[in-house]
Amino acid sequence: MSIPQDFIQELKSRTDIADIISGYVTLKKTGRNLMGLCPFHGEKTPSFSVSPENGFFHCFGCGEGGDVITFIRKIENLDYVEAIRLLAQKAGMSVPEDGQDKGLADLKKRIYEANREAARFYYKQLYSPEGKEALDYLRKRQLSDKTITHFGLGYSPKSRFELVNHLKKLGFSGTELIQANLANETRNGNPIDRFTDRVMFPIIDLKGNVIAFGGRTMTDMKPKYLNTSETPAFNKSRNLFALRFAKQKANGQLILVEGYMDVIALHQAGFENAVATLGTALTQEQTAIIKRYCDEVVICYDSDEAGQKATQRAISMLRPAGLNIKVLKVPNGKDPDEFIKSHGDQGPARFRLLLEKSGNDVDYRLAKLLTQYDTENTEQRIEYVTEAAKIIAALENSIERDVYISRLAGEQGISKEAITQQVRKYQRSNIKSANNRQFREIKDNISASKDRINTEKRYKLRAATAEEGIIAIIMTNPDVAVDLFKELPPDLFVTSFNRRLYEVLKSHAERGYDFTLTDISGELTEDEIKGAANILASFHRVNDARDAARDYVKILREEAEKLTPEQIAQASPEELMKQLERMKKKKQ
Ligand code: GTP
Ligand code: MN
Repeated sequence: MSIPQDFIQELKSRTDIADIISGYVTLKKTGRNLMGLCPFHGEKTPSFSVSPENGFFHCFGCGEGGDVITFIRKIENLDYVEAIRLLAQKAGMSVPEDGQDKGLADLKKRIYEANREAARFYYKQLYSPEGKEALDYLRKRQLSDKTITHFGLGYSPKSRFELVNHLKKLGFSGTELIQANLANETRNGNPIDRFTDRVMFPIIDLKGNVIAFGGRTMTDMKPKYLNTSETPAFNKSRNLFALRFAKQKANGQLILVEGYMDVIALHQAGFENAVATLGTALTQEQTAIIKRYCDEVVICYDSDEAGQKATQRAISMLRPAGLNIKVLKVPNGKDPDEFIKSHGDQGPARFRLLLEKSGNDVDYRLAKLLTQYDTENTEQRIEYVTEAAKIIAALENSIERDVYISRLAGEQGISKEAITQQVRKYQRSNIKSANNRQFREIKDNISASKDRINTEKRYKLRAATAEEGIIAIIMTNPDVAVDLFKELPPDLFVTSFNRRLYEVLKSHAERGYDFTLTDISGELTEDEIKGAANILASFHRVNDARDAARDYVKILREEAEKLTPEQIAQASPEELMKQLERMKKKKQ
């Protein structure tokens, strides 16, 4: 039986791989990942790693790896469908029978297309004479043209038919526009524009699809914000505004604010890790998504009573998910947007100070550390004190160090001298170099196990490495992936294993499905899943995925231009000349 992709997607969004694996393996946080003893081979030092962000596990020791479904299959000895049933049960979902998956996927694709055209239309309107008032409004709110373009803001004109007419000309049917909720249905069944005379905020998912809009009135009209209602392509409790930008800049931390304007003002001020819910309170699904991209959330809601209530609510959702929480209180009853503006040039710097004050002090960090250990257990207590000593060692002031050492000693029943010694040790040693050593050992391990799956890699190292970079980027950066699929034909892949992975990813994308490892694993053999997890595990986070992808594609193109020895032997004189010319050009 085939299980609809939408269901797997939903299951995945409700399933936290770290949670599931924790039921079988004791995991400890190290950086962005979790480590533990591999359940699939005997070992004494942990080499089993889990990445909550990208949804996979990988053992650096035995090479085992895959997504959450693979994990359950292996550990419970189940087949694919059984594993899904088990996970669905844990998530409180029931597996649908063979469904009309395709019809829904097609409709979603159509809605994305209509929305994209609508966003283009609104953006154009903003810079037309009719949009002048809206543009003035945004400028009055101190948004730069760069910011307006970055977020694709727009204006929906006053007439109630302009968008509908425009989209109909592009071939969309009235029914499609109503299904996309770009139009309302009149009593006699005709579509009329849903958004009129509003500033438009497109809501864009991680793959770059325009999934919905928020529209703000520029007057006192109610409602202040009108949002797209639920459509087959939009579920407001499963998305976050600006997450696709914020996830690139998160670096372990997201700032959670209430409004679209807050997000935009913060991004413009350089805080590009800000996100907002879509006009509702934080949901369980959003919490799970947030957890994939960071381990700390700074809640920065309005300082009015409603905002403070919402803060408490958000804390009660985020904390059980194991996230560190900071609360940033904006003074004088302002929201983040108003605060930054009210300080002019100094706005960003002042907000930075608020952010730092919201919890970067030693008390906060020690308290945060403490939550990770069970100090009733002697071994863990020692580990906690050792880690705490590291934090204290970083303090520059010796009196301050002494205060914290005394407190820690009293709290944990350990002698002050022992802790002092530990702190001194950390002051001297260079922790960094130790980390580097560990890292090298892990890396050597990886390259040894990988070649078993992609046997061609040894002979085609340069191309294969580029291919792996591309595959890792695709699985972790859907927006970059969408463009890659367009420009990169599978033929350019040199090694057949990587080409196969690429083809599966590409065909998922073309069918409108997601394409993380979990989404494609149903179509891969166990070895292939292992290989794919391996690629993800050994890929290092890059600053600009788009740039990196471009470099990798360039390498593949260069490699493709090189003739094989056989081709050199058989090439026509013209082909040979061409090749020589190309080589000459490159040398210049
Ligand atoms: P500005 O007044 O433009 O600065 O907006 P804001 O972002 O400060 O909005 P506010 O704090 O009033 O509201 C926060 C968020 O709640 C908004 O970004 C919207 O997502 C949502 N929201 C606000 N008003 C309405 C409304 O009338 N209807 C709906 N559906 N959502 C709203
Ligand atoms: Mn506001």
